[in-house]
Amino acid sequence: TNSTSTAIYNLHTQSDTMAGTGAGGFSTIAIIGAGSVGCTIAHTLMLRRVCAEVRLVDIAEDLCRAQVQDLQDATYLTNVRIKYATPQEAGQSDIIVITAGAKQKPGETRLDLIEKNYKVLGSVLKGLQPINPQSIILLVANPVDVLTHFAQQMSGLPKNQVLGSGTLLDSIRLRGLLAQRLEVCIPEIEDSIKGRPVNIVLQISDNSINAYVIGEHGDSQCVAWSSVTVSGAHISVIDEISDEDRTKIGKLVSGKANAIIRAKGFTSYGIGATAANICEAILFDQRPVYPLSCWHEEYQCCISLPAVVGRKGIVSQIPLPLNDKEKAQIEASAKTLREQIAKF
Ligand code: 2OP
Repeated sequence: TNSTSTAIYNLHTQSDTMAGTGAGGFSTIAIIGAGSVGCTIAHTLMLRRVCAEVRLVDIAEDLCRAQVQDLQDATYLTNVRIKYATPQEAGQSDIIVITAGAKQKPGETRLDLIEKNYKVLGSVLKGLQPINPQSIILLVANPVDVLTHFAQQMSGLPKNQVLGSGTLLDSIRLRGLLAQRLEVCIPEIEDSIKGRPVNIVLQISDNSINAYVIGEHGDSQCVAWSSVTVSGAHISVIDEISDEDRTKIGKLVSGKANAIIRAKGFTSYGIGATAANICEAILFDQRPVYPLSCWHEEYQCCISLPAVVGRKGIVSQIPLPLNDKEKAQIEASAKTLREQIAKF
């Protein structure tokens, strides 16, 4: 309706009660950490024109300035500004994406990073103060669920405004694997041009697959198989996936990051697109349902379950029906996270 579009329009051109942050009132996204993940997010935000200005922050000033210089050479394509920013400027942005911290080495789990990255998070949040009360903080650094919990405690913002990328990336990986598995080979048909039979493989787009990975963005995550659907129908209608295959697929998803890290040293494009997608949902108040890391009273920790995402961060949580096995798995995942939090 007119009022909605006007509201969204305001978000980007005039200061608006919710978005009145950033010089001149236009939308700004700060990225803390100018490494491979932070710069991939910056580049993705620019190419998709998600905001008016991207602000890059890093304690390694020379590296950060060089990354900004390089990214500036891409602005002619998109007219999105990229600038070197101070932590204080970052604290006044509409969204603050925190990627700073150590990354997994081959074979390391995300939870192995907790000691180092807890300290990094503390100094980052101190540097951002005073944080604009309307800002949204998006955690990307790992272990993302534990860091989201601590950022909620240390930032001074309401819990709904501090969220983590959680298992959205895992869910995207799962949908991609299921789409490949559901390739539909239609019977050989005459290739009218060359006169020979061909097999046409129709791949179901992963957009028509609704599937959630829930729990920790890490080894204790699980697939909510009971709610995996293909354009509304439960997946078992077209493909009875055996328990063995379900386990195999689950391991492929949870192990994908480490497989990439072993080969190239880090992951960046998947998490870059995921973080930019979440920023878009926030800034445009799009209200998608994503499995993001946020506080769950029932589990007494930040953990990923489907939630509605908008300009105020986590707008609401969707009660995903879980069978007994899934309930036990997510409770075990929450227990793992609570035990990590208790160490601090
Ligand atoms: C990923 O899953 C490393 O958490 C990052 O790609």
